[in-house]
Amino acid sequence: MSAAFDAVADAPGRVNLLGEHTDYNDGFVLPVAIRQRTRVSMRRNGTAAFALHAKELAQTVRFSFDEPPTDHFASYVYGCLVLARARRAQIPGLDIEVSSDVPMGVGLSSSAALEVATLRCLRELLSLPFDDVEIAQLAQKAEIEFAHVRCGIMDQMASSLAGTERALLIDTRSLDRRDVPLPLGSVVLVLDSGVARTLAGSGYNQRRGECEAAARQLGVVSLRDVPGLDAIERLPDLLRRRARHVFTENARVLQAAEMTDAAAFGQLMNASHASLRDDYEVSTPELDQLVALLQSHPGVYGARLTGAGFGGACVALCKAQHVQSVADAVLAQYNAAGHKGRQLVP
Ligand code: GLA
Repeated sequence: MSAAFDAVADAPGRVNLLGEHTDYNDGFVLPVAIRQRTRVSMRRNGTAAFALHAKELAQTVRFSFDEPPTDHFASYVYGCLVLARARRAQIPGLDIEVSSDVPMGVGLSSSAALEVATLRCLRELLSLPFDDVEIAQLAQKAEIEFAHVRCGIMDQMASSLAGTERALLIDTRSLDRRDVPLPLGSVVLVLDSGVARTLAGSGYNQRRGECEAAARQLGVVSLRDVPGLDAIERLPDLLRRRARHVFTENARVLQAAEMTDAAAFGQLMNASHASLRDDYEVSTPELDQLVALLQSHPGVYGARLTGAGFGGACVALCKAQHVQSVADAVLAQYNAAGHKGRQLVP
């Protein structure tokens, strides 16, 4: 694929600071974009088929609307093409090149970055009238229908609308949003636990089902509508713990969004991790270990697992001047126990 492309677009991954497993409960989230991005380039190829080349995977997949790809990675792009066509876009045959430095499979939304970049590229190529929120909505639909993860809309909204300098508070029910500055003097650090994680194969869809069951038993549309902790007392133990996580996590996001004090913000992140570990049960021993090392370092305000969990990355809010020494010290200790932790951000 050497000839010039007709359109090029990109989109970032994201790290979520607070508000985990709240988005599919109509709740609140607080992600920030990361500097790593996925770039998608497209060129009309004069056929009715698609040739998708993934640069880093050194892999080319060929498919058409009549013959969908079987490859997991290609299904994200295919899903975006199908959904754009369903919105009455006339999609010609295309050579598509994807190149990305968003870490994959660690909870930094590499799939959302791919979907959003694909849709942005299609928007540019075909002058489609999609705004950034519609792009996020289509991207989420592509993930649900073609990658079969019943995800919420946080990742796609973050990839489509968040910047790297400020977090984006999103009400996932109304999609209202506003920028939230990071506490003064703090920097975001992301470390990978080195434990692989696959969303669809994990308990993600199961957790979502449990939240829906809890909401049904409580007679509310979604767990966002739980009025207080008293209300969940009558749920059976497992559903009560799932609902308690969602309720307390929403409260933490709203509190953090008003906070300028890094230490207090960090405490909310620590509490979020405990809740994800004990009530929501999406942590792993390795994530717990890495988070504990981060939390006990004097250069760290707070730390928690980030993304869906079941492996993947942790996020910490660090004192700006100490961020690199925190990363080095914590990784040295963690990897001394035989793990393969690594620094992803900054
Ligand atoms: C994944 C999903 C998001 C969100 C998080 C957990 O990243 O794609 O919609 O549910 O997990 O907060």
